[in-house]
Amino acid sequence: MPGRPAPSRRTVLRSAAATPVAGLGLAACSPGDDGAAPARPTAPVDLGADGDVAKGATKLFPDGNVVVSRAADGSLKAFSTVCTHAGCPIRKLEGTKLVCNCHGSEFDARTGEVLHAPATVPLVELPVSVEQGRIVASPGT
Ligand code: FES
Repeated sequence: MPGRPAPSRRTVLRSAAATPVAGLGLAACSPGDDGAAPARPTAPVDLGADGDVAKGATKLFPDGNVVVSRAADGSLKAFSTVCTHAGCPIRKLEGTKLVCNCHGSEFDARTGEVLHAPATVPLVELPVSVEQGRIVASPGT
């Protein structure tokens, strides 16, 4: 017997598994991708009787995502309470300060202005009127 049979050689195939995949590198996150409420109501919101918001008072309507305040002269202002940072609905009113529970932004409910970051954009003002004794905030344009 001339020697031992040659040991079989295994061939290792290298796959091309390391092929780069373009376009999957940096998926951008965008504010509001978490199913947050729209930035403003999509239909007029009935906010109750005109007498429910006294002069100098501020009232949050969480179901409508609206805050209303009445100045000393009796005029009304309304703002969307959808946070301009990442779209969370704001559910907390402390006096005239709206506080977003998502990341801590704060807004002045009477002006919509940002009082505390991370938000940098004021709340969206909504047209508000009294119709047949009811306060109504509109989606606006
Ligand atoms: Fe309100 Fe971020 S969504 S602070």
